[in-house]
Amino acid sequence: MAILKIARMGHPVLARVADPVEDPTDPAIRDLVADMIDTMIDAPGTGLAAPQVYVPLRVVVFFVRPERTTGMEGDTPVDLTVLINPVLEPLGQAANAAFEGCLSVPGLTGKVNRFTHLRYSGFGLDGQRIERTVAGFHARVVQHECDHLDGILYPQRMDDLAEFGFVEEMRRRAAEQTQETQK
Ligand code: NI
Repeated sequence: MAILKIARMGHPVLARVADPVEDPTDPAIRDLVADMIDTMIDAPGTGLAAPQVYVPLRVVVFFVRPERTTGMEGDTPVDLTVLINPVLEPLGQAANAAFEGCLSVPGLTGKVNRFTHLRYSGFGLDGQRIERTVAGFHARVVQHECDHLDGILYPQRMDDLAEFGFVEEMRRRAAEQTQETQK
């Protein structure tokens, strides 16, 4: 187990389509996942995709803390999940916008539209199939992480680059806008 270096936006490993994992129960995948979890917790982050640690395979890890959920039906907290060869299926066209960050885009945040309802499936380290129907923040995290497997970073999903900036500045802006509306 080890904390790995995280690739940053601009590195080619983040821009390519990752390869499927042939055998989710392969001990090498188990070792990779252990290192990804260490790296994600150390960062800290709520999700990590294998290409972010320079491994172009279709593996993501994530969790959702109760305080991050939106209250939307289906937006459930989830314990640490390992998803290998994930498949995403949006349920309907409903989407909402919220700010995201990414360990490969450090210090920055941007507003991204994501599907609010999603069914996802994939395989765990035991080779067992996982299938869940989720919504809200949970659905957002899964979409963000699985985008990494197709070489897509969240800025590429943004509709308005005016909503992209450094976390400190965007927080200041949000606080000032709140004050404005209170005047
Ligand atoms: Ni990311």
